[in-house]
Amino acid sequence: MTLDISFPGKPARAAHARVILLASAKLAGPAAAIDKAGGGALGRALKAARFEGEAASLVELMAPAGLDATRLLVLGTGPAAKADAHVFEKIGAAIIARLQCSGEKRVSIDMDGVNAALPTARAAAHLALGARLRGWRFDKYRTTMKEKAKPTLAALDVLGAEGAEAFFAPMAAVAEGNERTRELVSEPANILYPESFVARAKDLKSLGIELTVLDEDEMAKLGMGALLGVAQGSVRKPRLMAMRWNGLGKKSAGTPVVLVGKGVTFDTGGISLKPPGGMEDMKWDMGGAGTVVGAMHALAARKARAHVVGIVGLVENMPDGNAQRPGDVVTTMDGQTVEVINTDAEGRLVLCDVIAWAQKIYSPEVIVDLATLTGAIIVSLGHEHAGLFSNDDKLSAQLTEAGKAVGEPLWRMPLGSAYDKLIDSQIADIKNVGPREGGSITAAQFIQRFVKPGVKWAHLDVAGVVWSSKPVTLADKGATGFGVRLLDRFIADNFEARG
Ligand code: BES
Ligand code: MN
Ligand code: ZN
Repeated sequence: MTLDISFPGKPARAAHARVILLASAKLAGPAAAIDKAGGGALGRALKAARFEGEAASLVELMAPAGLDATRLLVLGTGPAAKADAHVFEKIGAAIIARLQCSGEKRVSIDMDGVNAALPTARAAAHLALGARLRGWRFDKYRTTMKEKAKPTLAALDVLGAEGAEAFFAPMAAVAEGNERTRELVSEPANILYPESFVARAKDLKSLGIELTVLDEDEMAKLGMGALLGVAQGSVRKPRLMAMRWNGLGKKSAGTPVVLVGKGVTFDTGGISLKPPGGMEDMKWDMGGAGTVVGAMHALAARKARAHVVGIVGLVENMPDGNAQRPGDVVTTMDGQTVEVINTDAEGRLVLCDVIAWAQKIYSPEVIVDLATLTGAIIVSLGHEHAGLFSNDDKLSAQLTEAGKAVGEPLWRMPLGSAYDKLIDSQIADIKNVGPREGGSITAAQFIQRFVKPGVKWAHLDVAGVVWSSKPVTLADKGATGFGVRLLDRFIADNFEARG
């Protein structure tokens, strides 16, 4: 069920849940009237709950006396100067987390008298975005859910926020992209494999995106020996898919920004087989590719005035009689040879051929790749930041800023020739793994060997952030959609034509 979000002038007549916002324990705005009508009950309840208005703190009153509502939620905003977009997204998320399966069908949120660090209409749109993102669920394979466990909330009205629709419309496009990514990431690998991944992207055409798909024979002709080496152990045939959005019109399009995604639809490790514990997580080893698809959806759905191409390399990494072996040497599309020391370091083998192809076809100035590339990045950064590697300080700063702005933070990691040396091979140009230490860095160095001089490149190792084993601010546990909002913001702030 998608939440029906609107910004009406008047509250709905039917009995429903109501939300008011307070900056502190002081009963300002609608709170004063509600308190009075209830004989001081609201004030007593807030006191009992030790409510002080902290950002996104929540007090719930059932069937409050003197108020025509099934329940009243009081949400804290904290002081106005600090009540920014993040705070309102958190508030929206907290409301949904509380009410989604509560039995309530409708909730209205009163923005009257709310003071924020941004205009009320904008704050309301961010609140709605937070609610929508937190409300997304993946229930399609659950057939025996108890009635009480099912979502009930169908509508969310934000009152007193005239003009919020205009701010919310592009946010809804980005939310669609984020949800699309989470759906791809959540699907099991028996359902989502390279061909079915491509089939699911077909509808991007209706948004104005041009699709190009390469099959195994075409990739073989191009000499993509590294990507095909990973794919050869699986009965699922590999695919490369490019999604081009030109929001600038023919004349001014120029070279695009290229986004590249690792799309390993399942990673067993191959002959260097992973241990069984937790291997099911490797269904989301296509998280980079899923994020690129979601970002392309977002850009096209909001008609971004930019020229962007998303490219995903789709393979399944399986052990098999035909699988590649440790020690095999493969030749990549750009002619470099790779000694495959560990078949579980497959992501970089996929990315190198995709990046070589991207540079040949699109001559981009900027490439940003996203990949669930290494377990080592989780050791370094946990689940709080994605790792950022780049050959360009300005590009790094742009991505870091975009991540901060939307709450999808990046942390820059080093690159350098001392690390690069660690992946020299004895018998080929490169080997696909270095020593255990600095594993995320040597993985990035591997990719960098395929970036042409003059191309600005950044690599986001998103292994720690595309999936969460516990609820996070804007998502229930499971797929997070991390990166869609970041990429959308990165394009909006740095590549979009204005006016
Ligand atoms: N897909 C994994 C990385 C990964 C691990 C993502 C855990 C998310 C959670 C990647 O293909 C991989 O297996 N990397 C190896 C590299 C090693 C063999 C050098 C790793 O991190 O162990
Ligand atoms: Mn692997
Ligand atoms: Zn992998």
